[in-house]
Amino acid sequence: MSLSGTTTRYGSLAQAFHWLTALLVLIAFLVSEGGPPTRVYSEARAPTLLLHESLGFTVFWLLVIRLVWRLFDRIPEAPPMPAWMEVASKATHWALCALLFAVPATAMLGAWFGGHPVTFYGLGAIGPFSGTWGAPLAEIHGTLGDIILWLAGLHAAAAIFHHVILRDRVLSQMLPGLPKVR
Ligand code: HEM
Ligand code: HEM
Repeated sequence: MSLSGTTTRYGSLAQAFHWLTALLVLIAFLVSEGGPPTRVYSEARAPTLLLHESLGFTVFWLLVIRLVWRLFDRIPEAPPMPAWMEVASKATHWALCALLFAVPATAMLGAWFGGHPVTFYGLGAIGPFSGTWGAPLAEIHGTLGDIILWLAGLHAAAAIFHHVILRDRVLSQMLPGLPKVR
């Protein structure tokens, strides 16, 4: 399989970025903790928060690298489908990309303006900065974190629907090893 895509299949790099991102988002969500800041930022929960934040930052870097690679990559054409379905699929992909940016961005701003430093992979911390928007931004971060999971679930269900019911190549063009359908 080549690094770049073809008219009917995503390349191996785009596939790797996609599935790694999906896995990291899922784990970041599963280890996320809510509650009052005294709980979130407590000494006892510091390792979990560091893991959550590190996974989230990695998702962000993967998005940047993936978008740069996309400039040089070939993206498969959509198989024949009604126009509304193609528009819905494009809109979902755009929304997922926007969330992959907005979820980490609101997290960082929420922490900084809520009076907490942000630790980057345990290597060093930046912030906090003075401001009053910390709490609402942290709240928005949690909500967007929930939304990305719901939207990804819907997106996954649509991909399976394409494969099983419509029997087109939408899932097989992203999943290595899956036999190619029309
Ligand atoms: C794809 C990446 C991420 C996802 C899916 C995600 C998801 C979530 C969710 C769902 C919550 C709320 C938990 C609850 O209320 O039960 C949360 C909280 C939190 N996340 Fe993330 N997050 C991500 C990335 C990040 C990053 C990069 C940071 C780095 C600063 C971060 C820092 C936090 C903090 C500090 C909280 C607690 C907020 C508070 O209530 O004060 N997250 N995250
Ligand atoms: C957090 C989880 C996920 C995110 C953020 C996500 C995001 C995306 C994005 C942005 C694309 C557009 C192509 C690209 O830029 O690479 C895409 C394509 C795709 N995703 Fe996901 N995805 C997730 C999970 C899943 C899951 C669980 C499945 C399947 C069970 C799936 C199946 C697909 C398929 C089949 C395509 C190609 C669709 C097409 O070409 O029309 N994704 N995904």
